[in-house]
Order: sequence, then C-alpha cells, then structure tokens
Amino acid sequence: MTKETMNTIPDIIIAIDGYSATGKSTLAKLIAAEFGFTYLDSGAMYRAVTLHAMESGFVKGEAIDADALLADLTKNGLDINFGEGNRAFIGSRCIEKEIRSMEVSSHVSPVAALAFVRAFVDEKLHEWGRRGRVVMDGRDIGTAVFPDAQLKLFVTASDQVRAQRRYDELIEKGQPSSMEDVMKNLKERDYIDSHRETNPLRQAKDAFVLDNSDMNLHEELVWVKGLVMGRFQLFEAI
Ligand code: DC
Repeated sequence: MTKETMNTIPDIIIAIDGYSATGKSTLAKLIAAEFGFTYLDSGAMYRAVTLHAMESGFVKGEAIDADALLADLTKNGLDINFGEGNRAFIGSRCIEKEIRSMEVSSHVSPVAALAFVRAFVDEKLHEWGRRGRVVMDGRDIGTAVFPDAQLKLFVTASDQVRAQRRYDELIEKGQPSSMEDVMKNLKERDYIDSHRETNPLRQAKDAFVLDNSDMNLHEELVWVKGLVMGRFQLFEAI
C-alpha cells in the first residue's frame, strides 16, 4: 500500500477476535504493517500476568491464589510493555519466550477468567486504544473492550489446522510438545475462554468472519484490505 493510501485510512480501531491458534496475531501484525497502524496483542498481556502469578507462587498445580494475585496487582501493579518487534516485557525484562511456553499456555485461561485480571488488562488496552490507528487481537476486543471498533473480524480455522500451526510454532521455537498435548490445550482454552462469566469469547454481531483453514497469509491480507478499502470507500492509485 502506498504512503498516500495509508494516510487516507481513518483513525480506526480494528478488533480481531477468535479462538486460540487461528493465526490472529500473525494477521494482525501484517495488517498493522500494511496500514501503518500500531499492533497490540491483548493475549500477551494475559500471558504476562499469568507468568507473573506463576513466578510469584500464586499458581499451585491447578489452583490459583486469586486473593494473593489481586493484593499483589493492587499494591505493586505490573509494568507490562512492548519493545521492538512487539516483544513483551515486564519492566526491562523481556518475557517473550516464557509467555509462549506450554506451561504458561496451560494456566493462562483460568487466570484470564478472573474479573479483576480482566479489569486490570482492559484499563491498559483502553489507554493504548485511545490513541487510535490500532489493530488489537484477542477474545473480547470487538464485544467488550472496544464494542465501537469500526472494523471487527472474527477469525476461525479447523481444530486440526490450528493444532498443527501451534505444534509447528513450538517446534520452531525449540519447545517441542506432542500433538496430543497441543490439541488438548487448545480445546481446554476454547472451552474456558468461551464459558467464563466475564466477557467470554463471542463473535460480535457486526464482525466479519474469516475462516482461514485453507488460506495463506497473503490471501488473508488481500481479503482484509478489500474489506477496509470497500468499507471506507478508499481507492488505491495503481
Ligand atoms: O491469543 P493468546 O492465545 O495469546 O491468548 C492467551 C489467553 O489469554 C487466551 O487463552 C485467553 C486469554 N485472552 C482473553 O481472555 N482475552 C483476550 N482479549 C485475549 C486473550
């Protein structure tokens, strides 16, 4: 996209929601780069809180000491920020690798289901969103965090495709896992994310659905670009 066309895109928020491992964040990053927008990964925020809870001893087996986590967040806050290449940090410590581990993946959904954790993360997301020209991905961005987002996408893909993608990603990162464990984790997270009491994963009524099971990234980007250009009546000079 030319710089001129980029500049004609209004200061909108693009909300991308969907199940785990549907490739939301990869697509969101591409869209952000194409449109000159800021990308924000809300899942990384929940993962950062989860890592912090685990390292602070608030997660014991399946149990979470919610009172201790609440007291800690209230007293000390948690300085989650993003550096170059969208890498997540707590303070000055890069936590990108740790938050993508299977261990964090297996605890993040119950932590993200806690209402006070959602309020904590939402406040930060609103702060960033106010600046506009943002692509944000997550589970409740179009339904709860930014219900007025000007463009909402709901991304889906088949279970098999999602599990294979996550499995390949873990291998690539040198954190191999079995296909069985990956599938189990995805199903568990799908269930918890869509059944929790506070802002469960739902498709917003005004979201455009993108099933990318049989699409490559380039095709997805072309699809989204067409949507944005059509929606805002933009025309790209050839
Ligand atoms: O997108 P992800 O897999 O990195 O997200 C990790 C977890 O965080 C996901 O299982 C549920 C939670 N999450 C959420 O509850 N709401 C969001 N907006 C984003 C993520």
